Amino acid sequence: MHIAIIMDGNGRWAKEKGLPRVEGHRRGALKVEDVTEWSADLGVRYLTLYAFSTENWRRPWEEVSFLFNLFVEFMKMKIRKMKREGVRVRIIGRKEKLPKEVVEVWDWAENETKSNNKIDLIIALNYGGRSEIIDAVNRIISENIEKADEDILRSHLYAPDVPDPDIVVRTSGEMRISNFLLWQIAYSELFFVDKYWPDFEKEDLERILEEFRGRHRRFGGL
Ligand code: IPE
Ligand code: IPE
Ligand code: MG
Repeated sequence: MHIAIIMDGNGRWAKEKGLPRVEGHRRGALKVEDVTEWSADLGVRYLTLYAFSTENWRRPWEEVSFLFNLFVEFMKMKIRKMKREGVRVRIIGRKEKLPKEVVEVWDWAENETKSNNKIDLIIALNYGGRSEIIDAVNRIISENIEKADEDILRSHLYAPDVPDPDIVVRTSGEMRISNFLLWQIAYSELFFVDKYWPDFEKEDLERILEEFRGRHRRFGGL
């Protein structure tokens, strides 16, 4: 089971409470720890979380740099616990343009947890679905492969061994994909939750899994 989540609504959560947007991000980061634990408890093998998109650079630099710092702090603070609990941390996205410290923590977190296998926590950071496909195509070209097919393209994605998401969740009530995992979600079941990300609870995840069990996936067949 692979669940992918677009963690949206941190800013609106904060605004409703009269707090600065970044306070919403801080609360959102705490949820990352919770949702990883809940997912592992519920037998989810892969959890992908959208943390920063290639379009999020359009935000004010203060917010962008806060988010990068939050990533660094989160990893430094939580990696020991995640290591102990069998969490394999993986990060997908473009390393280019990211601050040096972010790239260092990215490599360190992956390396520290690489032999874990209870759950893969895949963080999409400076990630765009279109960039991922373009990066795959350019790698295919650089390997002098004359003709691509689906298997070849897939094998050049950022995390080629990870199965496609069974479920994509977006919080905050927005109903769009915002450049998330474009290739991989071709047949994912979509769930939209009318809550801001900091308010997401274990019951929400359980309800989604319950509803998923009742859905009939046809993959184009009958
Ligand atoms: C999601 O919350 C987190 C990131 C995109 C980093 P937002 O920051 O998008 O919150 P809203 O959508 O403005 O409420
Ligand atoms: C999607 O949320 C990206 C992340 C959750 C990291 P956005 O808030 O950036 O998406 P849009 O701009 O509303 O489409
Ligand atoms: Mg948003």
